[in-house]
Amino acid sequence: MNDALDALSSHDPTWLDEEHARLMRGTRGDLPWSKHTAHRLDAATRATLATVWRARADAERRSAPIFATWLVDLTGAGADARVLSVTARAVLDEVRHAELFEDLARAYGAPERAPSTALPVMPDDPEVPLRWQAAREALSLSVVAETFSLAMLHALRDAAGDPLVRAVLARVVGDESLHARLGWTLLAQWIPHDDGLRAYLAAHAPSVLADYVAMVFGDPEALPDEAYDARLAAHGVLPQRTLWTLFETVYRTLWRPTFVRWGATLPEGVPRRSAQRGA
Ligand SMILES: [Fe+2]
Ligand SMILES: [Fe+2]
Repeated sequence: MNDALDALSSHDPTWLDEEHARLMRGTRGDLPWSKHTAHRLDAATRATLATVWRARADAERRSAPIFATWLVDLTGAGADARVLSVTARAVLDEVRHAELFEDLARAYGAPERAPSTALPVMPDDPEVPLRWQAAREALSLSVVAETFSLAMLHALRDAAGDPLVRAVLARVVGDESLHARLGWTLLAQWIPHDDGLRAYLAAHAPSVLADYVAMVFGDPEALPDEAYDARLAAHGVLPQRTLWTLFETVYRTLWRPTFVRWGATLPEGVPRRSAQRGA
């Protein structure tokens, strides 16, 4: 007992290093770091890759508080413990992904810097029951964002020739597929018992898609006409237009048919923000 209390006042941070290392091990352990081929690239290509992987690390870091906020809303919505435990796991997964991608960014030469302080925006909707709000978050976070993340990381992994990048992407794909399934499973359980919720989600589906497109692609028509670059592809980077084509495929084959079944009115092509505003 005294030892335990003494430890509190010793201010020794070693335990924090050890516990952090233990929690990160699931993602960081036994990856083939020695097989990384970054040293074969020219400096400009390495700098491009450092920038891309650092931006991805920051996006992963922002995903942790998104899942943490969703965990709060799911708890208030009465989600069962299985849903809460997997959501809590996802918070930790995203911290792991951020660490992993930051390690990669540094391996390409990204400079040291303080951690990003960017926070996500997850607005409350006081007009609807918390269960509906948690379901709308399932739609935007899991059914749209994590599902596209899963499709994109699959494509990046398939194109990646570098053994380390391929292994990193394969590991993250495994986690993202659980994050995506969580939302699909939850909505499949909730929607059949709540016509009001189904109509609410159907009404929100177009704007959820349009907001995600604006966040990830900006204006898809204005994407740069980059040529496929085999060196970048080998290290996990494909042209934005290739990813946009992938997004359109997921829309056509998965999201649109599902949301139309819920009662949504959706155009043939992916909804855009300007169209949503009736411009
Ligand atoms: Fe992630
Ligand atoms: Fe995720």
